[in-house]
Amino acid sequence: MSSAHNVRSSGSETGSYPILREAEFDFIRHVVGENAGIVLGPNKRQLVQGRVARRMRELGLASYEAYCEHVRESGPEELVGLINALTTNVTSFFRENHHFEALASYMLPEAIKRNLASRRIRIWSAGCSSGEEAYCIAMVLNEVIPASQRWDVKILATDIDSNVIAQAQQGVYPLDRVSTISETRLRRCFRRGAGDQIGNVRVREDIAQLVTFRTLNLMHEWPMRGPFDIVFCRNVMIYFDQTTRERLLSRFGQILAPGGYLCIGHSESIHGTASSFKLVGKTIYRRNGEQL
Ligand SMILES: C[S@@+](CC[C@H](N)C(=O)[O-])C[C@H]1O[C@@H](n2cnc3c(N)ncnc32)[C@H](O)[C@@H]1O
Repeated sequence: MSSAHNVRSSGSETGSYPILREAEFDFIRHVVGENAGIVLGPNKRQLVQGRVARRMRELGLASYEAYCEHVRESGPEELVGLINALTTNVTSFFRENHHFEALASYMLPEAIKRNLASRRIRIWSAGCSSGEEAYCIAMVLNEVIPASQRWDVKILATDIDSNVIAQAQQGVYPLDRVSTISETRLRRCFRRGAGDQIGNVRVREDIAQLVTFRTLNLMHEWPMRGPFDIVFCRNVMIYFDQTTRERLLSRFGQILAPGGYLCIGHSESIHGTASSFKLVGKTIYRRNGEQL
């Protein structure tokens, strides 16, 4: 097991790197904007400089010019490396806990009522980073619908960054990352590491098997048909421009079941941009349609 600790942030980019010139910065931000929807404004230059320098070192390249040339020549292959380097993956267990409280108190109970015939519930963590959000959903799901009730429940967890998806799949976290989880949940949902894994915990199998992790660029076609009962897309749309956000919200509206829920991040708002949603709680939106 390797550590899934993931707290890369703009603040951590310090140290001395070669200077990133305007031409290479423009090329990189254009490529990342076009392909991932991520807007890198002029204030992100230092961050890009540091992150790309790290990637250059991995590849043994000495200059930004050489790196940009490499991106041009290798096409999709290095596009993944570049995007992985430039995503911000900050996350934590039970971040914005009110969403998990709402999940237990009304989102899941309503989905159960609506889906009594199919006994099927689908949840999507879109932009799941290293997996904490998806595993929190799984912990709550497991409490509200114990396995013994034999519902078909699945969580799809996706991210554009293949590195964080690989970490998430392991389900291994250092102890300090789980300090916000109650003792009862910790004991029920995690196994403590032993031997060379002392200091780590691993998500227990009955929780982990509820989640499927996949690499997925939200800008691309989505291979799944839905409908989803609940979509978490938190702290992802902040990186996109308004047009991209609106397009994404319209697609979420289409893939959500009528009466389904969309949870977004604390600094995000879809007010006035998506007519198919109604604000029903703090950063919680219900898709118009069937009411219970
Ligand atoms: C700040 S993290 C949010 C993690 C989690 N949802 C939370 O709120 O704690 C944002 C995530 O969005 C992902 N992301 C950015 N652009 C994306 C895109 N075009 N498609 C899919 N994921 C994307 C990043 O890789 C990153 O892991």
